[in-house]
Amino acid sequence: MWPLWIALGILVITGIALLIRSEWERVHPVRAEYEISSPEIPEEAGDVRILFLSDLHGKIFPRDNEALYRILRETPCDLVLLGGDMMTKFRSAEKDRKALRSLLSGLPKGVPVCYASGNHEQKMLRLSEKKPDWEPAFRELLNEHGVRYLRNETVPFPVRGGEILVSALDLPLDAYKAGPKRPLPDGYFEENIGRKAAGRFTVLLLHSPLYLEEAADWGADLTLEGHFHGGTIRLFGRGLMTPQYQFFYPRCQGIFHTKGKAGIVSAGLGTHSVNVRLFDRPEVVLVTLKHTKTAP
Ligand SMILES: [Fe+2]
Repeated sequence: MWPLWIALGILVITGIALLIRSEWERVHPVRAEYEISSPEIPEEAGDVRILFLSDLHGKIFPRDNEALYRILRETPCDLVLLGGDMMTKFRSAEKDRKALRSLLSGLPKGVPVCYASGNHEQKMLRLSEKKPDWEPAFRELLNEHGVRYLRNETVPFPVRGGEILVSALDLPLDAYKAGPKRPLPDGYFEENIGRKAAGRFTVLLLHSPLYLEEAADWGADLTLEGHFHGGTIRLFGRGLMTPQYQFFYPRCQGIFHTKGKAGIVSAGLGTHSVNVRLFDRPEVVLVTLKHTKTAP
């Protein structure tokens, strides 16, 4: 058997190597690409390219966002969707705004941008009387960049000769509490965003991956989610830990099919509180929607 000091030495060296790897990953974003086919995607729209960004949490990549800007430059798109938690908390408001401004400045010009709430925005908007200058500054930043903030609503987006719908639903804040999943009240989707429009391809922005079944039951053709930061450390295709302390939850990053509908979970761009990423690079998601004659 090895002497204890050798075992300890190996442990320390491994720990340091993993920390170095984590620091490297945190500043090296990648582009994840997915393709969705459906007869409900209008043929006249051609291939619809959606850029999905989530969970920025005040992150600015080194050298003025060089790596992020490079990916954005190389990813032409028809629509940009921001999936929430682009802000973190009142205490870091200035840093959060600086990071969001930097990201927005790197987006392709003339492309519509929509932003849906994450739990952090919802919490701050709810508590805005505690920090009255936060919301006006936040809204002004969005206005400056022509960003449309969606809360419990559905909006149409014309793309070439066709149109897709984008819905955004705020979950109850209870849904973000640590521990097991909290069921949503009956009829929660319909009460807040109405019924899904029949025969019209609808992308739903729903921050938490825990509610993919409910989104599919409502009829969302594609649900875009984030929130879990990929699960912090990814092992065997699962995330070690979510911000709600679920362990080895399977839907921390990637594409998942439920009840004939698709959900894409982004690993997000930033982190907060637990600032570690291992085998879990920050990501920009590109989804290409393609018309097909028959359901896949
Ligand atoms: Fe979140």
